[in-house]
Amino acid sequence: MAQASQTASCIDCEKTEASNVVIFGATGDLTKRKLLPSLLKMVKLGLLHADSRIIGVVRNRGDDWLAFVRQALQEFSPQAKDSALMERFHAMLCPVEGDLEDINTYTRLKEALLTHHERTNALFYCAIPPGWYSAVSHHLGAVGLMDEAQGYRRLVIEKPFGHDAASAEKLNRELWRVMQESQIYRIDHYLGKESVQNLFVFRFANSLLEPLWNRNYIDHVQITASETLGVEYRAPYYEKAGALRDMIQSHLMQVMTLVAMEPPAEYSATDIRDEKVKVLRAVRPVDINHVDEISLAAQYASGHTAEGEDLAAYCTEPGVAADSSTETFAAVKFYIDNWRWQGVPFVLWTGKRMKKRVSEVMIRFRQPPHNLFEEGTERPLPNALIFRLQPDEGMFLRMNAKLPGLTTRMQRLVMSAPYESKDGDMYDAYEILLHDVLLGEASLFSRADEVETSWKIVEPIIEAWSQRFSLPRYRAGSWDVPGMDRLLKDCISGWHIPS
Ligand SMILES: NC(=O)c1ccc[n+]([C@@H]2O[C@H](COP(=O)([O-])OP(=O)(O)OC[C@H]3O[C@@H](n4cnc5c(N)ncnc54)[C@H](OP(=O)(O)O)[C@@H]3O)[C@@H](O)[C@H]2O)c1
Repeated sequence: MAQASQTASCIDCEKTEASNVVIFGATGDLTKRKLLPSLLKMVKLGLLHADSRIIGVVRNRGDDWLAFVRQALQEFSPQAKDSALMERFHAMLCPVEGDLEDINTYTRLKEALLTHHERTNALFYCAIPPGWYSAVSHHLGAVGLMDEAQGYRRLVIEKPFGHDAASAEKLNRELWRVMQESQIYRIDHYLGKESVQNLFVFRFANSLLEPLWNRNYIDHVQITASETLGVEYRAPYYEKAGALRDMIQSHLMQVMTLVAMEPPAEYSATDIRDEKVKVLRAVRPVDINHVDEISLAAQYASGHTAEGEDLAAYCTEPGVAADSSTETFAAVKFYIDNWRWQGVPFVLWTGKRMKKRVSEVMIRFRQPPHNLFEEGTERPLPNALIFRLQPDEGMFLRMNAKLPGLTTRMQRLVMSAPYESKDGDMYDAYEILLHDVLLGEASLFSRADEVETSWKIVEPIIEAWSQRFSLPRYRAGSWDVPGMDRLLKDCISGWHIPS
């Protein structure tokens, strides 16, 4: 059974076996910006065994891919300045040419794997459009590449995993035809962030919080992913997805389960994921006739940055329909109907083109039962514990304290604990997650029932929103989202706008 000391939270503790890291979509954006820089850093740190290979499945000529990799690393990896490291990395590269729909591509891939080692461990990474997940897994199975007789075979699936509950269930069934659930790693890079994992450690390695971590002391929780960027080049995907599918169903609901879960019996993938699923199963079903009472959707209109730069409206962005009804802001107030959380709202919200880029979890506590200081002084503000996930990862505790001098007046004191690793070098989420796959450690990956349950929870909201007639607008570069005060009216101090 994996213990905390053997997992990603201590990734220099355990060595991986040599493996073939096979990238489907080896010329794509994710590969260029995230996978290749992470693999290079892993080679540097010894987290990827020196006898490993990185196999890129490419449609164009293999030589072109080698040049692509060099260029991508120069652009996106600070490690690329180390020429000895780059040479070592390039010696590990192996292109396999072919189209994803051609079975011969997989036969060639199999030959490439078998010629290298006696044991041919393989990690298959699907950095491809989601429509290909099923076909790729089918072909891998057809040529026997998911058979683990000669080494492990693990498949990493990127988000989005399905478009709704039915498509997620269908995809799961298709994957299970050719592989075991234990071979599937559904990646959610949010869970690879060190600060998200710290949330877990903070809760379960300290006894201080546990007595307070319930409905008796916590008024509500807000989980935020606020972006300053607009839709950028992602319009073809985003137009069909929207903020609820893109961020809330996946990343933010995953974070919610970490905040709300019971302590697992052991630090194991099974026990952790069992507890996360219990949270999702306890989420109060959304009544499709009352969706407006617990959720909010909006779209950014034109605006400007704090520096005065003009920002275009979503509907005028390249690739977006002029009459698009896709939400770029989504907020949902969930209730978790169990003993710990009954009656405590969990408000999850995300928006593009907001005033500030911040992801955080804010736990707002109830106010003191009796206010000694009310007369002639400000009412004490409720305490808040904030986990900043990005940028400037860290923890902040908001307390009330006396102003110095002959007064009982209060001031807000913020106790801050910036979160940095001891050598000041935080690991990127993809480095942590790739290393976990190589170790066979699945705690930070979603299990089939987690994904299906979270889709089922949001489905009534998706359904209700698809029938709406108009979508409120908010000014790009602002916090002026109409309706957020109404949504949080029963939460002490209302909407927490990140500072
Ligand atoms: N980009 C991100 O930051 C990000 C973040 C989270 C999740 N994701 C997910 O990761 C996946 C990949 O995203 P992306 O942004 O990297 O997409 P992308 O830039 O469009 O890349 C897609 C890749 O798939 C390849 N491909 C498509 N059809 C193929 C075929 N028939 N045969 C062989 N190769 C084929 C493309 O090859 P060609 O170059 O030959 O077209 C390209 O390498 C998506 O599921 C996305 O949702 C991406």
